[in-house]
Amino acid sequence: IRRGRAPREPSPPLCRSFAAAADQPDRKVAILGAAGGIGQPLSLLMKLNSLVSSLSLYDIAGTPGVAADVSHINTRAEVAGYAGEDQLGKALEGSDIVIIPAGVPRKPGMTRDDLFNINAGIVKSLCTAIAKYCPNALVNMISNPVNSTVPIAAEVFKKAGTYDERKLFGVTTLDVVRAKTFYAQKAKLPVEEVDVPVVGGHAGITILPLFSQATPASNDLTDEDIKALTKRTQDGGTEVVEAKAGKGSATLSMAYAGAIFADACLKGLNGVPDIVECSFVQSSITELPFFASKVRLGKNGVEEVLGLGSLSDYEKQGLENLKPELKSSIEKGIKFAREN
Ligand code: NAI
Repeated sequence: IRRGRAPREPSPPLCRSFAAAADQPDRKVAILGAAGGIGQPLSLLMKLNSLVSSLSLYDIAGTPGVAADVSHINTRAEVAGYAGEDQLGKALEGSDIVIIPAGVPRKPGMTRDDLFNINAGIVKSLCTAIAKYCPNALVNMISNPVNSTVPIAAEVFKKAGTYDERKLFGVTTLDVVRAKTFYAQKAKLPVEEVDVPVVGGHAGITILPLFSQATPASNDLTDEDIKALTKRTQDGGTEVVEAKAGKGSATLSMAYAGAIFADACLKGLNGVPDIVECSFVQSSITELPFFASKVRLGKNGVEEVLGLGSLSDYEKQGLENLKPELKSSIEKGIKFAREN
C-alpha cells in the first residue's frame, strides 16, 4: 500500500534547471499563432525552457485555453494568453523574442508559395505591430513561404524605421533537423552526434543541405546516396503534408525545431559564446539579399553571418540552381510589402 509520503524534493534535473534559472536574466518570449498546430506544442516547449521568464501566447482566438493549460506546468515562465487584435500590443510589449507561426499551412498538392496570398497579409500586420510595440525584439519567422515572409518583415520594419538586420530570422532549423536525421540513418551514425549545415532558402530546391560538410564524415555514402538524401531533405515537408492527407503540415517536428532555434537566440542574448545555427537572414555571402547559412548569435542577434565553406561540385550546382527561384521569392515579398 502506498501511503502519503513526505513531500518530495523536485527531481535532480528540475532542481538544476530552477537553480540555473535564478542566475538568468528575465526574458519575455511571445508566440503569435500560439493556438495553432505548431503554436501549441511550441508553447509547451518554450514553457519548459528555463531561460524564459515570461511566455506570452497570442492568437486571433483560442489562446486563453492554451495559456491556462500550459501555465499549470511547474517551470519558471509565467504564462499569459491574449486573443484578438486589440490584445496584440499587450502580448508584444517588452518581448525579447517574437516567434511567428501564424498563418495557413499547406495541403497536399500545394507549394509553400501557394500560401503567399493569405500569409503575406498576416505577417505584414503582425510585423507592423512588432515595430510599434517591441521594435528591439528578435523575430523568428516560421510562417511560410519563409523565402518571402522574411523580406516582407524587413520591408515593414524599414518603413517603420525600426529595421535591424541582426534581429530578423527565417527559421530553417527544421531543414537542419531533417538533414541530420536522414543522414544519420543512412550513414548509420548516432543521430545525436551528427551535424549538417543547410543553406539557401526554405522551399523545394532552395533548401540546400551540405552533406560534404556533415560531421562525423561518412565514407560509405555514394553520390547516389547524397542525391537521394538531398532530395529527401528538400521534400521533407511534402512527405509530412502527404502523410497528414489534408490535415496540415509539420507541426510537432517544427515546434521542436522552433524551440531549438529560440533557445539558441536566448543563449545568444544572454551572452553565451559560440552559439551557431543556420538561419535565413539578410546576407552578403552571395549576390542575394537574404540567404540561409550558419550565423553566430550574440547579445544583439546576428553577430556574424558565416560563409559557405567549401562545396562539392554537386552542391555548387545546387547553389546555382536555387538562385533564380530564391531571388524571385525574395522579390515577390518585397514587392508585396511595398505595394500593400
Ligand atoms: P495552423 O493553421 O494549425 O495554425 C496557425 C495559427 O495561426 C492558427 O491558430 C490561426 O488562428 C493563427 N492565425 C491566423 N491568423 C493570425 C493572425 N493574424 N494573428 C495571429 N494568429 C493568426 O498552422 P500550422 O500548422 O501551425 O502552421 C503555421 C505556419 O507555419 C504555416 O504558414 C506553415 O506553412 C508554417 N510552417 C513553417 C515551417 C518552417 O520550417 N518554417 C514548417 C512547418 C510549417
